[in-house]
Amino acid sequence: MFAVHLLAFYFTKLKEDQIKKVDRFLYHLRLSDDTLLDIMTRFRAEMEKGLGKDTNPTACVKMLPTFVRAIPDGSEKGEFLALDLGGSKFRVLTVRVSEEGKPNVHMESQIYPTPKEIIHGSGSELFDYVADCAADFVKTRDLAHKKLPLGLTFSFPCQQSKLEEGILLSWTKKFKVRGVQDTDVVSSLTRALRRHQDVDVDVLALVNDTVATMMTCAYDDPRCEVGVIIGTGTNACYMEDMSNIDLVEGDEGRMAINTEWGAFGEDGALEDIRTEFDRELDLGSINPGKQLFEKMISGLYIGELVRLILLKMTKAGLLFQGEKSSALHTKGKIETRHVALMEKYKEGLQNTREILRELGLEPSEEDCVAVQHVCTIVSFRSANLCAAALAAILNRLRENRRLTRLRTTVGMDGTLYKTHPQYPKRLHKVVRKLVPNCDVRFLLSESGSAKGAAMVTAVAARVQAQRKVIDEVLALFQLTREHLVSVKNKMRSEMEYGLKKETQPLATVKMLPTYVCAMPDGTEKGKYLALDLGGTNFRVLLVKIRSGRRSVRMYNKIFAIPLEIMQGTGEELFDHIVQCIADFLDYMGIKGASKLPLGFTFSFPCKQNCLDKGILVEWTKGFKATDCEGEDVVDMLREAIKRRNEFELDVVAVLNDTVGTMMTCAYEDPACEIGLIAGTGSNVCYMEEMRNIELVEGDEGIMCINTEWGGFGDNGCLDEIRTQYDVEVDEGSLNPGKQRYEKMTSGMYLGEIVRQILIDLTKHGLLFRGQISERLRTRGIFETKFLSQIESDRLALLQVRRILQQLGLDSTCEDSIVVKEVCGAVSRRAAQLCGAGLAAIVEKRREDRGLERLAITVGVDGTLYKLHPHFSRILRETVHALAPRCDVTFMLSEDGSGKGAALITAVAKRLHLKKDH
Ligand code: BG6
Ligand code: BG6
Ligand code: GLC
Ligand code: GLC
Repeated sequence: MFAVHLLAFYFTKLKEDQIKKVDRFLYHLRLSDDTLLDIMTRFRAEMEKGLGKDTNPTACVKMLPTFVRAIPDGSEKGEFLALDLGGSKFRVLTVRVSEEGKPNVHMESQIYPTPKEIIHGSGSELFDYVADCAADFVKTRDLAHKKLPLGLTFSFPCQQSKLEEGILLSWTKKFKVRGVQDTDVVSSLTRALRRHQDVDVDVLALVNDTVATMMTCAYDDPRCEVGVIIGTGTNACYMEDMSNIDLVEGDEGRMAINTEWGAFGEDGALEDIRTEFDRELDLGSINPGKQLFEKMISGLYIGELVRLILLKMTKAGLLFQGEKSSALHTKGKIETRHVALMEKYKEGLQNTREILRELGLEPSEEDCVAVQHVCTIVSFRSANLCAAALAAILNRLRENRRLTRLRTTVGMDGTLYKTHPQYPKRLHKVVRKLVPNCDVRFLLSESGSAKGAAMVTAVAARVQAQRKVIDEVLALFQLTREHLVSVKNKMRSEMEYGLKKETQPLATVKMLPTYVCAMPDGTEKGKYLALDLGGTNFRVLLVKIRSGRRSVRMYNKIFAIPLEIMQGTGEELFDHIVQCIADFLDYMGIKGASKLPLGFTFSFPCKQNCLDKGILVEWTKGFKATDCEGEDVVDMLREAIKRRNEFELDVVAVLNDTVGTMMTCAYEDPACEIGLIAGTGSNVCYMEEMRNIELVEGDEGIMCINTEWGGFGDNGCLDEIRTQYDVEVDEGSLNPGKQRYEKMTSGMYLGEIVRQILIDLTKHGLLFRGQISERLRTRGIFETKFLSQIESDRLALLQVRRILQQLGLDSTCEDSIVVKEVCGAVSRRAAQLCGAGLAAIVEKRREDRGLERLAITVGVDGTLYKLHPHFSRILRETVHALAPRCDVTFMLSEDGSGKGAALITAVAKRLHLKKDH
């Protein structure tokens, strides 16, 4: 009994002595809690440095954006090929993801060797080898006939600007292949795969092993937002808020960041904790000065650290009675698996003895205990360092989410973590101690990284397929030069039809004479009332013109016209207008004043045979009041004034908004002979030679023609370029079959075209998660101002998303990109079509005036032209391209058409007076 006790005492004593001896020798490798907290802080600072745009270039922890934005949501499916290169084993796999009832993943894999000649050879040899293995795998599994998307797990630091790209920043671990650094790994692999004509694979994604691990684990646990590898090398990734990633555009959602934490310390940040053994190991490695943190932690180096320590201790006479063996002198003779075996709970000591013997040493009992403790210290330090960096990441995640407690999951992989008997336990414990306010679940990726790589590839494949459909839809809106020239020519012939007596009744471009024949000459003066009806706003104005100085003073008030009035009876509409005039006169305090002359801007097609008569041909845009078509709107206005019997007005002129706009601009620039509206509706007027206007007597001089070009195409002449979406918009409008050109070019309809496209894409499951919301079904939600905002270049994606949210459309980041593209395609086509029409007009003017070159000014108004960020530029470019012999100046009408209406009234008054005298 006593002997047993004595023996036990002896062992304990022996153990204690040995442990103390080793502890003394390696005190520098033991890190206190304070040191770990300090390392945590340092790593946190490194992360921030890597994320900042200005600081990233000099940061050693690179914090690489991965373009993996979302964790799997269970909708992934398909069959994928996966390559897993860069860990201890090179694998080729197939991953089949299906949804039979519940998500189901089936994998088959094969390990291929990575001979030294390959990992230290040339780039082309490496990629050819990898492609050969992939081809072999595909053929042996009888998959050669299938087109397979491929996900590549490539466990080295790569710069990515998209998923299917990876510029290798540097080799790490055992790899040192010539001519690959700074090149794109995906294109090299693609090229190598193409040599195998019998296999058809498409490399859709490159992912780091940390990312693939995180995705693998996230498939089972959606809370997983960190991936850590402690294997041959060590590294971590995590989901960072886009708003913190300066290097990638967009602020919305999250993206996985591959930290490449292995490089931590390369700038000297860890010198105080690095030991002579770390330095010696680094000097003997294939990448001295690099991956200093990794070299203190990962499997490739742990065994070697132990060897260097044992060698030094032996030299100091502390082990093996100072007797070294040649194996102990040989680099790489102690491996991680040895360390793991030596630290095994029960057999550890026995294992240690055997391993040391294999190394040609003759260990005593004391030696074995000491060596085992050396292993413990080295692997403990490794776990501690990993824990500190991981704790920094967890804290960052918690702060990003503004939580006091974070519940999260970390996906884990790597041979050291998986095979070392104590490692996981130690790591978990230290992490929990360092971040007590995080509840962390550590989830081992049992199946390696291929499943995660397949998930990423599945998303990429879906995006690719979606892209194809979206591109096909957008292509319908792309017009070639031939298309545009043909539009211009057709517009020209339709205009000629409209001018000719015989063809006019059937013409789609009605070419209405306006009886406006003279331009203001600066002598106009007096006080006028003006009405401006038919654009976005209904305005009543008082315009005071002072002669000589070409100065005009205006007072105006905007009134709403409720939908029920726009589409009620004619009487109600005109009563409402007169009511607004009465309010305005009251407001200005001039109701009792003498019978003011009034100019009426009425932005609808009217047949005129004098200035103060306008028979409404038909309503356009959003108006549909009854009993107006075929009636004289001036009469209707006069009668309504009479009905009200409160004031008297002298209605002198009725004019189209294009004409008002032209006049407003001509007052400043006499070269202005054209008026263009690109607003709710679309229309043009211009000065035409009287001799060309068959409907009006006389051949002298010029008269303004209101083209009403909105009706262009109503005979089907534009059908070739009209899309199904244009047809749908037309069918859902107040005037089906009418105003087809207007419906492709003006503000009231562009948003509707966009809406129809979005509905279609949603039906195909390509937008809004396939859900057509009530809002999306609502007509008119995309007003010009929203379209304009969405397309603004200055807008970040997040803001686009916010606009869509305001419109009641719950969109993701990808949705917002697509919506913006759709808007762009639709508005671009509108501007081009409008430009082609305008080119026809300026060319006609040039020819009619018999000029080689024509300089002409176009007065323009309308919300589309004014608010849209690109419309006016594309319009100008198109006119320039299609009418190269015309120098066209575009002049924005700042004051609206009310001023022009007053001027026309003034001119009419002047001519009238002249006639009377
Ligand atoms: C494997 C993954 O399980 O672990 C690889 O599939 C990863 O992608 C590897 O690189 C890391 O561990 P090790 O020990 O093989 O480097
Ligand atoms: C205004 C004019 O500025 O623009 C109106 O005063 C015109 O007469 C209108 O109808 C056209 O633009 P929108 O976008 O309001 O239809
Ligand atoms: C190295 C690589 C890194 C990889 C890690 C684990 O640190 O640089 O990309 O994730 O090893 O394999
Ligand atoms: C519609 C009208 C037209 C008007 C244009 C711009 O096309 O028919 O008269 O000029 O809209 O407001």
